[in-house]
Amino acid sequence: MSTSSQAHLQRFIQLLTTASANAALYHLEHLQVSRLCRQALDQLTTLFNSHSDLTLKIIDEQLIFDNKPVANNLAVKRLIKALEQHNISHLCIEPGIYSEELLGLINTLSKRPERQVDLTESEHIHFSQVEVRYRSQDNSLQSADLLLTDIANKEADRYMDMYTSVQNHQKIDVSSVSEIVGGFVDAFSEQSEVFLAVAPLRSMDEYTYTHSTNICLLNLAQARQLGIEGQQLNEIGIAAMLHDVGKMFISPGILGKTEALDEEEWGIMQQHPRLGAEYLLGTPGVPHLAVVTAYEHHMQYNGQGYPKTNRPWEMNLCSHMTAISDTYDAMRTTRSYEDSLEYDEIINIMLNLAGTKLHPQLTYSFLQLLDKLEKENS
Ligand SMILES: [Fe+2]
Ligand SMILES: [Fe+2]
Repeated sequence: MSTSSQAHLQRFIQLLTTASANAALYHLEHLQVSRLCRQALDQLTTLFNSHSDLTLKIIDEQLIFDNKPVANNLAVKRLIKALEQHNISHLCIEPGIYSEELLGLINTLSKRPERQVDLTESEHIHFSQVEVRYRSQDNSLQSADLLLTDIANKEADRYMDMYTSVQNHQKIDVSSVSEIVGGFVDAFSEQSEVFLAVAPLRSMDEYTYTHSTNICLLNLAQARQLGIEGQQLNEIGIAAMLHDVGKMFISPGILGKTEALDEEEWGIMQQHPRLGAEYLLGTPGVPHLAVVTAYEHHMQYNGQGYPKTNRPWEMNLCSHMTAISDTYDAMRTTRSYEDSLEYDEIINIMLNLAGTKLHPQLTYSFLQLLDKLEKENS
């Protein structure tokens, strides 16, 4: 394979994986996804000048093209991971492929495998699947090498266990939360497009976990943007993971209700910051910042939120960041596919909230971060 073919292949893989991450983050019809898909098709067209098709195989966790291993980088690792998750061992793309077909592949790769994605082949895309392979514990995920989403998947059970203990009024093990956050922080240093790892909406059962990890990633990104590092960064991540812990004391009937809450239910829901802070205050090893953030994250910049206080209150920086991440995550994930907001709409809403509900400078800085990401991937 010539050097230029290698470069086109690498670029194609980069575009394909970024498009699928964007499809997971927004949705398949997002402008960004179609733009990346078009660019990926251009790379394929160039590759087909020197190759009759693009056949990729996975052998021993290595991507093979033209009988040679493809140099490993983050995008290649991500593709291997995504293909493996869908048990695809062999992928063949033929000349003449339509953009709809490539979008279909992007869609498949963007989905979590347990969603039973339909892997029907299309006219110019073929693949073979292997039997589901058992991944041994020893082969389990090492933080920095792997995608944040993988870490998130791996840690989900541990985190769910933790929440069950909260519901049973047992004390949580703060060191496990700290380890999860540590994995994210390590991965951050390896992966600039960390926003792309923010998980898409999953089942309601996993909602609290998914929401907490999203807020953690978004808070870490904000904090890093401000130059915060080390212990303080870790504590901001831990505070984010635990910000909604008080929801575990709210009845599932209220938490899972899809219609608007009535006055009484809303009153109960508004207890979650206080309940969370009280719980964390009584839990050994929890950083003070997590207690404060759990208490303050719905207070709002203009003081119009809850809990109400009878004296002027200055919210902590981490609480402001959490409110920003929370607002963004709510607009992005809690709406149904049809209702999901376009990126531009989200930006406009957040701009309108800057200075009222949300801290203005921190919101601008957050939006700059999003903008940077958009540009990096366009
Ligand atoms: Fe909350
Ligand atoms: Fe929240």
